[in-house]
Amino acid sequence: MKKIILTGDRPTGRLHLGHFVGSLRRRVELQDSGEYDRIYIMIADAQALTDNADNPEKVRQNIVEVALDYLSVGLDPAKSTLFIQSQVPELCEFAFYYMNLVTVQRLQRNPTVKTEIQLRGFSENAVEGDTQQKQGIPVGFFTYPISQASDITAFKATTVPAGEDQEPMVEQTREIVHKFNATYGETLVLPEILLPDNAACLRLPGTDGKAKMSKSLGNCIYLSDTADEVKKKVMGMYTDPDHLRVEDPGKVEGNTVFTYLDAFCRPEHFLQYLPEYASLDELKAHYRRGGLGDVKVKKLLIAILNEVLDPIRERRKYFEGRIHEVYDILRRGSEEARRTAAGTLDEVRTAMKINYFSDAALIEEQAKAYAPKSNALDKPTAEPNSLELCRGEKRCMKMNA
Ligand code: TRP
Repeated sequence: MKKIILTGDRPTGRLHLGHFVGSLRRRVELQDSGEYDRIYIMIADAQALTDNADNPEKVRQNIVEVALDYLSVGLDPAKSTLFIQSQVPELCEFAFYYMNLVTVQRLQRNPTVKTEIQLRGFSENAVEGDTQQKQGIPVGFFTYPISQASDITAFKATTVPAGEDQEPMVEQTREIVHKFNATYGETLVLPEILLPDNAACLRLPGTDGKAKMSKSLGNCIYLSDTADEVKKKVMGMYTDPDHLRVEDPGKVEGNTVFTYLDAFCRPEHFLQYLPEYASLDELKAHYRRGGLGDVKVKKLLIAILNEVLDPIRERRKYFEGRIHEVYDILRRGSEEARRTAAGTLDEVRTAMKINYFSDAALIEEQAKAYAPKSNALDKPTAEPNSLELCRGEKRCMKMNA
């Protein structure tokens, strides 16, 4: 069986280090591994609109931001198909049929949707005077896991590289695939999520130590941040609040700087930047004992982050000077994605037997079943009155005109 990747991001802002360690870095590795027959990377603008209906301009402006982030981390349009979700309208049709295979109760149990509803402040018991955000849960938002199942199955994806917050979406997709195949015959491919392999990458905390990087919390380091911005953000990063003096013993667990080092540090970095330590474990041990200041650890992190970000910044600059080309890449990718999705949609319609006009057997069978019995066939059936009436009407209309 072919190995196919599909994944994507909502274009609601620039991508940050959380995206990088959680999925972008992995995508590039997978792309360059040569192990996959096809790779589709989608800018999920339609999904972004499910909770930004009143702000389409935000989504519109961020498509190119996300595309620039993709290209600058090293996604290569010659190897990966980069496309825009809304430009593949076939995806809506899949969702329309899948909706019949999912219950409202099942959607309500989706943990990611639950968290996001709370985060967005959508309320189930809207009262008059609420802001638009509080006026209840948009149906489109509530059903986006089904639309995501369309994204995944339309490309027959076997593999969805994503963060753990996407696990419920892939799980829901698998249920839809099982249900569809059981009901209509083996058609759709069962996907699997591919989670980051390093625990620190599962969910990189924000610079303030909060659970997740998020634009609204202002705790992100962006892929497009300059070296100076990175320095400032790392210097202000949350560490161990009880580690007041250098000689105090410090805590490594829950210490954001160390979590980031877990995600980014490789043994060779020590030789390069801090040769007095052989490994991250040694650095951690010293911090725990006391006698190691935050600034020294932060400086190491700054050096490593800039080493990671420098080539990304360089590629970004290259593509920023070629925005027309970026849109061409997305247009060609979307055309290709559309062809693939249309092919799968054909199979879905055939399996569901809603392909009437190409179903010659159905038409033949019904023609036979409905045909008048043999003796009536001797002379051609007369035109029904209604047809004559139609003609008559037309004549009348002409006369009136
Ligand atoms: N839900 C994903 C996010 O919020 C974006 C997305 C849409 C996606 N469709 C997808 C991810 C299909 C993986 C597969 O980032």
